[in-house]
Amino acid sequence: MAEAKSTKTKKAATATKSTKTSVKPAAPRKKSTATTKAVEAINHNQDKKKILFVASESTPFIATGGLAEVIGSLSKSLAATGKFDVRVVIPLYSDIKKEYRDKFNYLGNLYVHLAWRNQYCGIFEYVQDGVTFYFIDNEFYFKRPGCYGYFDDGERFAFFSRSVLEILPFLNFYPDVMHCHDWQAALAAIYLKTNYCFRPEYQFIRALFTIHNIEYQGWYSLDLLGDLFDIYGTYQHLVEYKNSINLMKGAIECCEKFSTVSPKYADEIKNPYYAHGLDPIIKKNEFKLCGILNGIDADGYNPIKDTHLYANYSAEDFSNKAVCKMNLQQQLGLPQKPDTPIISMVTRLVSHKGLDLVTAVIEEFLQDDIQVVILGTGDAHYEGFFTDLARRYPDKLSANIVFNGDLSRKIYSGSDIFLMPSKSEPCGLSQMIACRYGTIPVVRETGGLYDSIKPQQNGYTFTNYNAHDMLYVLRQAVSDYKNKEEWAKLMYRTARSDFSWNRSALDYESLYLDMLK
Ligand code: GLC
Repeated sequence: MAEAKSTKTKKAATATKSTKTSVKPAAPRKKSTATTKAVEAINHNQDKKKILFVASESTPFIATGGLAEVIGSLSKSLAATGKFDVRVVIPLYSDIKKEYRDKFNYLGNLYVHLAWRNQYCGIFEYVQDGVTFYFIDNEFYFKRPGCYGYFDDGERFAFFSRSVLEILPFLNFYPDVMHCHDWQAALAAIYLKTNYCFRPEYQFIRALFTIHNIEYQGWYSLDLLGDLFDIYGTYQHLVEYKNSINLMKGAIECCEKFSTVSPKYADEIKNPYYAHGLDPIIKKNEFKLCGILNGIDADGYNPIKDTHLYANYSAEDFSNKAVCKMNLQQQLGLPQKPDTPIISMVTRLVSHKGLDLVTAVIEEFLQDDIQVVILGTGDAHYEGFFTDLARRYPDKLSANIVFNGDLSRKIYSGSDIFLMPSKSEPCGLSQMIACRYGTIPVVRETGGLYDSIKPQQNGYTFTNYNAHDMLYVLRQAVSDYKNKEEWAKLMYRTARSDFSWNRSALDYESLYLDMLK
């Protein structure tokens, strides 16, 4: 709100957007048929379909994980097709980099009602790569370090979701598809199909809900239904699950379609092993579920021009990858051995990433002629384990308990084998990035890992969540690494796997069009 209230920013905004600085009242509930038809015309007679992404984070502004990368890169590639008017709305966190905040355009503000609350909502705008980003400003909720983990996250994202619906009349933008991502945006879909669906302008908006990780569902006490979430008793059944409120369940019930970030994961979440309790809901709504594999920003992750690398290289000429490896070994204090394979992990240090398998057999594996590089933060238990291991095996293992984008790229380029033995993995982007840098993935066959990595073609896989199955396959990879000629062919095939958004953006395109039929 500091920016929202600064005269300087407001004046700048007034100069460019004079018509938008005043507060427009929310649309009245009843409209004449003529108005309805006019709105229908606006929504449907234009060439470009209007898509509004609702999410809690997006690159390049703020990122804590893969969700942000997907929001940033999918929106960009949909806009690039020329067929969609793509806009994205996220909260204006104080952690959003200043270099961007300074460029945001203040559009105006309004007050958002939520039960008995009435909260300030500033709206900022920024256009990049053909995508319009909106930022919801409220210092009380978002001027805090990080994005999540506060006692009032439910209230913060209820305010955010409600604001998304409230700013539509202000922006005079009624999307054809409102595409909500993960539990933080679930309420936007729920409000749309409950409190707002009687307003003519909102009645044509279809809701798509994408699950990036079913583990985080937004569970709350039922007592909060009206008081906090402002959901009428008549709609209780939509969000109620196991005597609580479950926001993900609510969004699944309310949306026209829901999706996951890989086809395999769409299948897996019907199974209790993967569903974190939601399998009955997934199965009940199976008819509207689909899985679309994520892509990566192939331009942003390109060893030919990545400025973070020690040296650049391509799939056609990997010679500089050896330079990346030598420098990485030096930077991390490992012996500079060109023929010793480096096995790397760039990961959050949490259990579902398969770390139990790693901790079970890594000492056995470290007896071989290998080096291991770990990068990531997470559970204290794993952080301590790897720090201790690095102390005991300084010539073999480097543990970097930090979140460091620059180092991650040096690791992707400088290592030989990339390990991702996840217990569950909705999609996973790291294995695709590793491929792009010619680093061969070893993965467990689950979710997006199963869909993206194929044995013989671009990596090694194992099926069962079993430490020695993993070790067996890792040793197979290390042994194949010694056959330089065959390994070079594998690197070539792997680096040429197409994980750009081109293919998946087409799938989203058909999904949107299908929803608009
Ligand atoms: C979540 C999932 C990850 C996926 C990402 C983007 O972080 O855990 O598998 O790649 O979302 O969809």
